Amino acid sequence: MPSASPPPPLSIHGLSSRYGRIQALRDIDLVISKAEIVTLIGANGAGKTTLLMTICGNPRAATGEILFNGEDITHLPTHEIIRRGIALVPEGRRIFSRMSVLENLQMGSISVQGHKDPGHYDREEDLTRVFARFPILKERCHQRAGTLSGGEQQMLAIGRALMGHPRLLLLDEPSLGLAPMLMQKIFSIIQEINQQEKIAILLVEQNAYHALKLAGRGFVLANGRMVMSGTGDELLASEAVRAAYLEGV
Ligand SMILES: Nc1ncnc2c1ncn2[C@@H]1O[C@H](COP(=O)(O)OP(=O)(O)OP(=O)(O)O)[C@@H](O)[C@H]1O
Ligand SMILES: [Mg+2]
Repeated sequence: MPSASPPPPLSIHGLSSRYGRIQALRDIDLVISKAEIVTLIGANGAGKTTLLMTICGNPRAATGEILFNGEDITHLPTHEIIRRGIALVPEGRRIFSRMSVLENLQMGSISVQGHKDPGHYDREEDLTRVFARFPILKERCHQRAGTLSGGEQQMLAIGRALMGHPRLLLLDEPSLGLAPMLMQKIFSIIQEINQQEKIAILLVEQNAYHALKLAGRGFVLANGRMVMSGTGDELLASEAVRAAYLEGV
């Protein structure tokens, strides 16, 4: 008998969330069916950041459900969601600028120490892994994080998220403010993380062209609703997407 396929890393159905009286997300459906890259695009204020934050439990889902590897996490507190293996790299990086690079990475492991058997939690092993992916962070490990360049800060934010072995990585506009060369580098790092570590990635990007090129599937959010989905190539070929998000490409 064929073995049952594993549950999808992320499965969202009928999700809505609000800030007080403002309804920010309405009836969202989104599935990441395997360890693939899924890209979410949409205009400013569409609700992209809110969707990533709602997956992390803040704000809480008002309706609908969020399943992570088949487990219902909709009503779990944020720290429990993180412990289960979801990591968010927030918009604007949010590194601790007065702390050293090393301290920032150590902060990344604090939130997940209960993730595995605490007796076997090996922060050194995680540091070695992150330094292997981002050698510049090892070189700069005693430098204050606020003095890193924009690209280095983005690498630090991603490295910090990787400290806890996430199974799902939520990236909120990782290319924001980076020069084109660095942007390319960040996108290829994202692809490597996905392929080498088999981590599912939900990537929010304003840079629709590059992000959809990278993606297995893509979704378009407008005014809190999911208005379109398809493979990355389908969305890149769509007239509506081209007109709204790919002007000049
Ligand atoms: N903490 C908050 N309190 C009240 N309203 C908020 C809050 N955060 C976001 N909003 C509102 O929710 C809507 C969606 O915002 P969100 O930040 O999710 O958009 P976004 O798609 O990430 O936009 P951007 O591309 O500019 O980052 C906006 O109308 C915004 O003003
Ligand atoms: Mg945002």
